[in-house]
Parts: sequence; structure tokens; C-alpha cells
Amino acid sequence: MADFVEVCSASDVPAGGAKCVTVKGKKIAVFNTPAGFYAIDNSCSHKGSPLCDGFLDGTVVMCAMHGWTFDVRTGESVSNPGAKQAAYPVKVEGGKVFVEV
Ligand code: FES
Repeated sequence: MADFVEVCSASDVPAGGAKCVTVKGKKIAVFNTPAGFYAIDNSCSHKGSPLCDGFLDGTVVMCAMHGWTFDVRTGESVSNPGAKQAAYPVKVEGGKVFVEV
């Protein structure tokens, strides 16, 4: 059953940056974008590089390995239509980040 799980403090994720967390055995990248916090599967759907090590530009992360890009709001690839990361609902309450998994 999916439920919101506390994953970190909001201050753990720098503005314009990311943090990798593990929730229920899944590695998830949490992003702090100008549009808010978002979470997608950390393992790039191309060849598995960690997207939390990628480069965030607004709400788009570019994988550091081969440059595929993903909209962190939806998980959909910008550079490779059809490729997609799982995306998870996020809420921030009391300075804590919660991801629904
Ligand atoms: S592993 Fe991410 S673009 Fe290749």
C-alpha cells in the first residue's frame, strides 16, 4: 500500500539540487526545484546512472552519464520521448520531506 514516508529534512536538499533516498527498498532522487520538491526513480532508464548525480536546470534533470533529460515533475524524458522514470508524489510539512511510495 502506498503511503507518505518521511525521507529527509527539506534543508537536506539544496535549492537546485538533489538527494538520493531509499524508501521501501527503492532508490529515489528527491529534487528541490524552483517549482517545488519532486521525486523520481534514481536509476536512469537508459543505463542506470544515478539521477541524483545529474544536473538540474529548473525542473529538468540531465543524467550525468549520457545526457538524457527528464522532467522531474512527471518523470517523462524530454530528450527521449517514450522513456520515463517512475514519479512519486511529494509533500513538505514541518520542514520534512515526505514521498508517497
Ligand atoms: S545512464 Fe542516464 S543517460 Fe545513459
